[in-house]
Amino acid sequence: MSPQHTLSSSIAIIGVGTMGRAIASGLVHAGVVTASQLALADRDISVARDLATQLTGARWAHDAATAGEGADIVLLCVKPNDVAQALAELHLLSAHVLVVSIAAGMTLSTLEQLTGGLRPVVRAMPNTPCLIGQGHTVLSAGRHATAEHLQEVEQIFRALGTCQVLAEKHLDAVTALSASGPAFVYVMIEALAAGGLACGLSREVSTFMAARTALGAAAMVLETGSHPAELRDQVSSPGGCTIAGLLALEDGGFRSVVSRAVEVTTRAAAGLGAR
Ligand SMILES: NC(=O)c1ccc[n+]([C@@H]2O[C@H](COP(=O)([O-])OP(=O)(O)OC[C@H]3O[C@@H](n4cnc5c(N)ncnc54)[C@H](OP(=O)(O)O)[C@@H]3O)[C@@H](O)[C@H]2O)c1
Repeated sequence: MSPQHTLSSSIAIIGVGTMGRAIASGLVHAGVVTASQLALADRDISVARDLATQLTGARWAHDAATAGEGADIVLLCVKPNDVAQALAELHLLSAHVLVVSIAAGMTLSTLEQLTGGLRPVVRAMPNTPCLIGQGHTVLSAGRHATAEHLQEVEQIFRALGTCQVLAEKHLDAVTALSASGPAFVYVMIEALAAGGLACGLSREVSTFMAARTALGAAAMVLETGSHPAELRDQVSSPGGCTIAGLLALEDGGFRSVVSRAVEVTTRAAAGLGAR
């Protein structure tokens, strides 16, 4: 099947660590852009150069300013405390260039301030399953970003999974639930697998089964549209074994521990942009 190049914009990706690399590769593999539409920059030149070689045809640059030359969209994929420095390097960008930041906790008002106050800016909060096209990304637009800008950014992140637009006030909670969330789910998968191991299943079988179970249960929620509690009740028959396990989870405060983890992470995410 020939790829469909749906975006004509050239995109500079500043920072090609975990997320920048996932976005660059995902965009090319989904056929949303050709590699030649991408310019990559990282503090570690070899990282940008190797990814450009791997993607065949992408440009790589020694610094953010060079990568940003001629770009229509600049995707900032650096840590929150590196954003100001990267934007300082990009100060010569022409006024129409759209800046997209995926940095946790960096508010639109800070980003707008750092880019001169009039630039179109969009905040995006993706997650690591973007690496395999199964991510989820939430977008919030700044004061000078138009509906067309937002549409372009949606196209970028839809190539990596699902995407939705929410008011910026929700982005710290989104960071906790959706961006940090995979880490919480991995702990659950690890714990399920440890239980299987304790009951005599091999490590390999336990881990596969725990991951497969998480995947299946998540698909049930998404595909049936049923409330998780309803689906849980379908598994737990009166006097059965599942209710015994569910009561053990309640004894350990599982539900409130997980919910509190999201609450604490939301507060931590809000603090990231202030450092
Ligand atoms: N990882 C996640 O699960 C996730 C999910 C959602 C959002 N985010 C956000 O995504 C951003 C990136 O996270 P990450 O996990 O991909 O980080 P990462 O793996 O550390 O990648 C960031 C890369 O950017 C480079 N860099 C820093 N300043 C630069 C500059 N001025 N010019 C060029 N390159 C520069 C870094 O180089 P050095 O290492 O040499 O500094 C590093 O290679 C963060 O702001 C985070 O909040 C991450």
